[in-house]
Amino acid sequence: MEWYKKYDKIYGLIVSDLELIKQILVKDFNAFRNRQPRARSKKQIMKSMFRARDDDWKRVRAIASPTFSSGKMRKMYALINRCCEDFIDSFDKDVSNGMNEVELTRLMGAYTMDVIASCAFATKTNTYADPNNPFIASAFNIRNIAVWKGMLDTFIPRFLINNYIYRRVVDVGASGMDFFNDVTRSLIKKRKENHEKHNDFLQLLLDAERPEGDIREASDANEAHHVNEGKDEMKANAEAFTGVSEKKLTEDEILAQCLTFFTAGYGMTALTLSHCTYELALNPGLQDRLYEETKEAFNEKGEMDYEVLSRLPFLDALISETLRNSPQILHLQREAMEDVMLGNTGVKIEKGVSVEIPVYAIHHDPNHYPDPFTFNPDRFMPQNRDHIQPYTYLPFGSGPRNCIGMRFALLEAKLALAKISHSFRFSRVTDTDVPVVYTTVLFGSLKPKRLVVGVHKR
Ligand code: HEM
Repeated sequence: MEWYKKYDKIYGLIVSDLELIKQILVKDFNAFRNRQPRARSKKQIMKSMFRARDDDWKRVRAIASPTFSSGKMRKMYALINRCCEDFIDSFDKDVSNGMNEVELTRLMGAYTMDVIASCAFATKTNTYADPNNPFIASAFNIRNIAVWKGMLDTFIPRFLINNYIYRRVVDVGASGMDFFNDVTRSLIKKRKENHEKHNDFLQLLLDAERPEGDIREASDANEAHHVNEGKDEMKANAEAFTGVSEKKLTEDEILAQCLTFFTAGYGMTALTLSHCTYELALNPGLQDRLYEETKEAFNEKGEMDYEVLSRLPFLDALISETLRNSPQILHLQREAMEDVMLGNTGVKIEKGVSVEIPVYAIHHDPNHYPDPFTFNPDRFMPQNRDHIQPYTYLPFGSGPRNCIGMRFALLEAKLALAKISHSFRFSRVTDTDVPVVYTTVLFGSLKPKRLVVGVHKR
């Protein structure tokens, strides 16, 4: 943020000019189609959509994209809803038994872990009753090792990285990965043998076939969540995926995507839910507004229709403001695959250079969002949305390489917020840190030390 204020619209390798951001993420997508490679990544990680490059990425994303269409999300709704019911039941028991304070990141982490394990690996984790469940232990194993390995790979000289002792030490984390690979392979085998069909990612990826023409569904645009979808964006999207002739993913590629969805999907959604609930605890008026809006939307069985849920304006504004104020990825990154002139600035980005877009700083620029450190969901209410300039709201990135899981994350988060606000009230207590205390920022994400709030039943 200091650099953003001190220098003009381009500094170092960081670009915050909105037109130039659009050039990098959309108009010149082909020249900026990859993220910067890590010094040394396991083969399987390179197959994951997040890390894959060039034609490998193009193929995987083109074939896997329909998995996340709004039509497929609708089918997955029942699965997510069941996890949400288990979550509310377990939380309800705890609160009824006298729990009156809760650390949100752990609470929400248990829910999003259960959702992604159910949706990606067809496995109920029962995270609430069994914190030692192998899914959780293995997920932490992968996460912790990934963080350390990423740090070591960045700072240690190349000749040491290639040293076999270093490899043996660092590859210990592979056991977590092996666990997921074993689970997935045996599930695939079982499904093939028994001709079983499920509504989860694994099944969708097994069945996925590259569609002819546009990879998006018409209804996707209705759930675009303030993502810019004009002429240039549509054109970039169509061009990015031309020329993919393969129709299916290999089993190894399917394994890699399930694992990516698991690691990408669990933490960021949990933190978004945690930050949102924290803001609600500090703002009782916002809690009342959410309660009033969702109360009307539940039917007599206490259920909410997918269509109704995705169109509640205040709930959407609340999540949008959470993602603006506390974006989970602080900056986006793209590598130049050729020399590129940045607009008419006279600045040339040379081939191989990595450019960053400072999402957090853009989200807190008073020219884009007046009084940017105040949590104010009204900015995103339908009557005010016109004030939001294109490319000033980037929590899920933008362009053909944006977050593929956006609709899934929003669905999962909105459902949980609607249901918890219906049954519980949150409040500020002595242990609530105001403002939030963050631990060291590692690899571009913001981790709160703790988010403790008071809770009681309505
Ligand atoms: C609130 C939750 C989430 C946030 C804030 C978030 C944010 C992001 C961001 C900022 C990117 C980089 C986009 C860019 O470079 O333009 C990204 C990429 C990605 N996300 Fe998410 N994400 C979330 C949830 C999920 C979920 C639930 C999944 C999967 C189930 C997922 C899967 C991915 C994948 C696979 C990529 C790489 C896409 C590619 O390179 O083609 N994310 N996410």
